[in-house]
Order: sequence, then C-alpha cells, then structure tokens
Amino acid sequence: MATDKIFIFDTTLRDGEQVPGCKLRKDQKLEIASVLDQMGVDVIEAGFPISSPGDFEAVSAVAKIVKNATVCGLSRSVEKDIKVAAEALVYAKYPRIHTGIGTSESHMKFKFKCGPEEIIERAVAAVKYAKSFVEDVEFYAEDAGRSENAFLARVCEEVIKAGATVLNIPDTTGYCLPEEYGAKIKYLRENVKGIERAILSTHCHNDLGLATANSIAGVINGARQIESTINGVGERAGNTSLEEVVMIIKQKLSNQFHTNINSRMLKPTSLLVSNEMGMFVQANKAIVGDNAFAHSSGIHQDGVIKNRETYEIIDPLEVGVPKSSIVLTARSGRAALAYRAKEIGYNLTKDELDVAYAGFLTLADNQKEVKDEDLEVLLKEKVFA
Ligand code: KIV
Ligand code: ZN
Repeated sequence: MATDKIFIFDTTLRDGEQVPGCKLRKDQKLEIASVLDQMGVDVIEAGFPISSPGDFEAVSAVAKIVKNATVCGLSRSVEKDIKVAAEALVYAKYPRIHTGIGTSESHMKFKFKCGPEEIIERAVAAVKYAKSFVEDVEFYAEDAGRSENAFLARVCEEVIKAGATVLNIPDTTGYCLPEEYGAKIKYLRENVKGIERAILSTHCHNDLGLATANSIAGVINGARQIESTINGVGERAGNTSLEEVVMIIKQKLSNQFHTNINSRMLKPTSLLVSNEMGMFVQANKAIVGDNAFAHSSGIHQDGVIKNRETYEIIDPLEVGVPKSSIVLTARSGRAALAYRAKEIGYNLTKDELDVAYAGFLTLADNQKEVKDEDLEVLLKEKVFA
C-alpha cells in the first residue's frame, strides 16, 4: 500500500548547535552533515549564516559537500540576513532559504512592537526577496504555538501567494498539548487558501516534554515535514528528537507514512553528535540512550532471555545497537546470572548456579553493577576454587 512520505528536516547544526556547550567547528559540522546525508535526511539546516563569519563559512562548506539532501540556511525577515543566507548556499545542489517572523501577540507586542498588518507585510516581503535567490523558500511563523489560528492562517495564505514552498509552524516555546498542536495543523489545512501548494512542517520544542508527541500529532493532522535534531538537542529543553519520530513512524504508523531514514544509522549518529558536541545523552533516552535496550530487573531479564519480544518493542539491530544487554545488578535473578556466566564461557549446573548466586548477591548489594571481570573472579573463587 502506498504511504505518504514524511520529510525529515534536521536542525542539529542550527537549533541544536546554537545551545550553550554545543558549539561545533566547521570540520565537525562537515562530518555530521555528511553522516546526516548518508542516513537519508531530506533537509539539513546547516546554520544561520548572518550570525557569524564562522557560521557563514560552515554553511557554505556544508552546501558544497552534501550530495542528496536540500541544504538550508536560516534568516530573519531582514534583507541582509536573506542575502547572506543566499550567498552561503550558492554551491548547494538543492538550496533552501528559511525565513520568518513572530506571529504571536507577545512577539508582535514586545519583539517587533508592531501590529499584525505590518507582520504580514514583512513576512511577504521576506519571502519575495528570498524567492529572488532560490526557488525553495520555507517560511517560519515563530511562536505559532501561541499564535491565534485565524491570524496564522492569514499569514500562511499571504506567504504562499508570495511563493513559500514550506510553512513551518513552530511551537517555539513548547507550550502546546498534542491535541492543540494537531488541531492547529488541521485548522491551517482546512482554512488556508492555496495550502495544497505548500508543505506544512512541524518544529516543536520540548519545554513540557511534548515535542515528539506534538510533532506526531502534527503529522497525523496533515503536516508532511518534521523538524528535529539528533538526540533532541536544541534551545532550552531541546527540539523534537529525530530518532524518536523516525521510529514512531516506523513502528506505529507505517500503514500511513514512511521516511527516507536508514534507521540502522541512528545509534552511530547519536554517538557521533554526542561526542562532537560534548553533550552527554541521558541513559534512559528513548531509542539511543545507553539503557534503551538494557534489562536489569530479574523479572524482565528472565522474559527477555526466553524471548526478546516480551520486553522489547524494537529489535536493537534496527536502530544500530548490536544487541540488547542483560545487566547484572542486585535486582537480577538466576536466569540472568546463568546467561551472563555462559556468555563468558561457564555453563553452570544447577548446584554451581546456587553457589554462584549466593556470592553474586553479596557482591551486587555492594556495587551498582557486576561486570564480566567481577563475575569471572567470583566464579573462580566461589565455584571453581
Ligand atoms: O523555534 C523556533 O521558532 C525556531 C525558528 C527560528 C524556526 O527555531
Ligand atoms: Zn526552534
């Protein structure tokens, strides 16, 4: 059955990189961009070219090496930003300028100090100017999550007329509930004239931990592009994590949607980004955290040893994790101990296992985890002395 393609837009190198501690050098941006391209990302937002000469150079260098993906540069609705973004993208095979302006009450009142009509004028002028450089222009309505839907629809209609090819509806402050965000996308799909000429895009922040849920609600209600980052890095609590939305689509929504991502590259790419940024990934992070396929309680371990599917909904190989792990802790049972002993070459009889298990519990109560080396010593001293 034919399913709809969901375009994956990666902004690790822009929204991710702008965060304290995540700064990347040009060579690091190039290495990550090349891996994102190989992994099947559709759009790579490489940076914000006007922000610094270094970022301009990095975007320009990324534009030169990326073979398959569209390369995108961010700008405000300001002519100079747009011109510089266009210059940075001049060598891209598929260039895209991403321009926009705030559309919420708070952004209009405090940031721009202007009314809605002027916002529309500035948005339209920016899109028209960007269009004079490239065909592919994405418009972002910053703080769309808190913007009034009727006004947002007017802005979208006008920028489509001006030539926008993609409409980014950011939940900039991570404020929406999935139902609200989904309803917003549905409203735009149903009320914006000319919407069939543009792709609606989600761009959700994680301030309330809802970025992934909101992005998926957006897709279910008509968005066809998801903006995300590797490991969910990004401003404040981060952005939607790429690995999460890709696997949700693959595991739960494959009868309706597909992406172009080679999911086996998710874990290696997560490690690369974490190492290059020096940004640690929490162990219990979905899909790519160190504990995502680690089983530690006796009940779970017993189940997984009998059949992986009892406690795993994803085959670790599918996301590039070589295998699930059975971690030995004081909560582990005999099945796990026998399994790990066998892995290091000891096929224990029932009596040997009884002796080993008593010694194991004493050891495990005094340390967080019993590693292979500890187990080897324990077996040699207590069982085979
Ligand atoms: O969160 C946001 O609104 C953004 C825009 C600049 C796209 O990052
Ligand atoms: Zn953002």
